[in-house]
Amino acid sequence: MSTAISPTAYNYKVVRQFAIMTVVWGILGMGLGVFIASQLVWPELNFGLPWTSFGRLRPLHTNLVIFAFGGCALFATSYYVVQRTCQTRLISDSLAAFTFWGWQAVIVGAIITLPLGYTTTKEYAELEWPLAILLAIVWVSYGLVFFGTITKRKTKHIYVGNWFYGAFIVVTAMLHIVNHASLPVSFFKSYSAYAGATDAMIQWWYGHNAVGFFLTTGFLGMMYYFVPKQAERPIYSYRLSIVHFWALITLYIWAGPHHLHYTALPDWAQSLGMAMSIILLAPSWGGMINGMMTLSGAWHKLRTDPILRFLVVSLAFYGMSTFEGPMMAIKTVNSLSHYTDWTIGHVHAGALGWVAMISIGAIYHMIPKLFGRAQMHSIGLINAHFWLATIGTVLYIASMWVNGITQGLMWRAINDDGTLTYSFVEALQASHPGFIVRALGGAFFASGMLFMAYNVWRTVRASNPVEAEAAAQIAVVGAH
Ligand code: HEM
Ligand code: HEM
Repeated sequence: MSTAISPTAYNYKVVRQFAIMTVVWGILGMGLGVFIASQLVWPELNFGLPWTSFGRLRPLHTNLVIFAFGGCALFATSYYVVQRTCQTRLISDSLAAFTFWGWQAVIVGAIITLPLGYTTTKEYAELEWPLAILLAIVWVSYGLVFFGTITKRKTKHIYVGNWFYGAFIVVTAMLHIVNHASLPVSFFKSYSAYAGATDAMIQWWYGHNAVGFFLTTGFLGMMYYFVPKQAERPIYSYRLSIVHFWALITLYIWAGPHHLHYTALPDWAQSLGMAMSIILLAPSWGGMINGMMTLSGAWHKLRTDPILRFLVVSLAFYGMSTFEGPMMAIKTVNSLSHYTDWTIGHVHAGALGWVAMISIGAIYHMIPKLFGRAQMHSIGLINAHFWLATIGTVLYIASMWVNGITQGLMWRAINDDGTLTYSFVEALQASHPGFIVRALGGAFFASGMLFMAYNVWRTVRASNPVEAEAAAQIAVVGAH
C-alpha cells in the first residue's frame, strides 16, 4: 500500500490534528477548571497576583473548554462526518489546514491575552478585536470547506448530521460577527457598538445561542452520526430527526432573554424568552429520544462497550439539562436560581455530561479508524474513564444544586422586621462544603482525561503511516 495521498482518499490528516488537540485542550481546560474550583475552596491559590486571579482565569477556563476543547471536537468530527457521509474528500486541503492552524492561533492568543486582563468583558465573547477578527476569518474558511465539500458530494441526499453541523457553522458566524461589532480604541481595547439594554440583549442573544448552536446543535450533528455508528443500528426515526432539526433551530434563537430576567430589558421580551424556552423542551427531548431509541435492539451492547456508554449517558445528561433549563427559565424559578451555583450546576450538567461525554465517545470511536487500528489500545481504560467522568459529573452537579438552593433561600430569607436573616458571608460559609465536593468531582473528571491521553497515545504509537493512510483509502470504498 502506498503512502502517497490519493485523490480518492479522505483528508484524515486535519481530522487527526483536531482530534489530538481535543484531548490536549480538554486536559488543559478542565485542569484549569479544577484549579479555579480549588481557588473557591482555598482563596490563597489566587497567589495575590492579577494574572493568576480567579477573575482572569475563569474566562480562560470557559474559552479553553468551549472553544478549544469543544471547538476542536466539532472541527474533527464535522470534517470526518462530512467526508464519510458525502463519500468525498474535503474540498481544499490547504484551507482545511488553515482552519486548524488559525484556530490554534486564536486559542494561544486567548491563553496569552486573558490572563493579562485584555477582555471585551462580554461573557464567552471576551477576546479583543484582533483575535475576534482572526476567529471570524477562520470560521468563514471553515464554512467554505464544509459547504464546499457538501457541494461535491457523491451521495444524493445530505445526511441529517450535516444539517446540524451546517446550522451550527452558519449561526455561529452570525452570532460572533454581530455581537463583536465594536469600535477599537487601541490594539488591545474596543468598545461595543451597542449601548445599555440593547447591548445586554445582543450579548445574551449571542450567549444563549452560543449554548444553542455551538454547545448543542453542533454536538447533535455528532450524535446523529456516532450514536448509530457505534450502536450499529440505523437512526430510530429519520423523519423525527428532520422535525427535530427545524423545530430546534427555529425556537432556540428566541430564548436569549431568559438570561436577563428582572433586568432593564422590556418585560414582554423577558416573557417571550421564558415562553420560547419552555417550548424548547419539546424539540430537545425529541432529539434525545431519537438518539436513545436508536439503541432499540442494541441495549445489550452497553454491557461490553464503554464507548457506547459514553454516548448514551451523554444523551441522558442532555435530556436532564434541557429539562432543567426550561424550568430555570420560568421567572419565579429564576428569581431563586439566578446568581447562584444552581446555574453553574446546570451549565456543567450540559458541559460535562452532554458536551464533554459525547465528544469523548466520538473521539474514542474515531481514533482507531483515523490511525488504521482495529480498536483503542485499552478498552479497560475507556471503562475506567467512563466511571470517572460519570461520577465526577454527578458530584459536580449535585453539589451545585445543594449550594444553589441553599444560597437562593438564604439570600431571600427575611426576619419579621424586614431585615435580612443571613449575611452574604454566612451563605458563602454554607457553600464551602459544596465547593469542596465540586472540586473533587472536577478532579475525577479531569483525571479521566489523563487516562484518555495515555490510551490515545498508545493507540497512535502502535499505528504506522502506511496503515494510517490505508485507513483513509479503504474507508472511501466502504459504506459511511
Ligand atoms: C473538570 C471539569 C471542570 C471543572 C472542575 C470546572 C469548573 C468550573 C468553575 C469552578 C467555574 C466557575 C464557577 C463560578 O464562577 O462559580 C466554571 C465555569 C464554567 N465552566 Fe467549567 N469546569 C469544568 C469543565 C467544563 C467544561 C468541559 C465546560 C464546557 C464544555 C465548562 C464550561 C463552563 C462554563 C460555560 C462556565 C461559566 C458558567 C456561568 O457563567 O454560568 N466547564 N467551571
Ligand atoms: C432547552 C434547553 C435549555 C434551556 C431552556 C436553558 C435555560 C437556561 C437558563 C434559564 C439559564 C439561567 C440563566 C440565568 O439565570 O442567568 C441557563 C444558563 C446556562 N445554560 Fe442553559 N438551558 C438549556 C440547555 C442548556 C445546555 C444543553 C447547555 C450546555 C451545553 C446549557 C448551558 C448553559 C450555560 C453555559 C448557562 C450559563 C450562562 C451564563 O450565565 O453564563 N444550557 N440556561
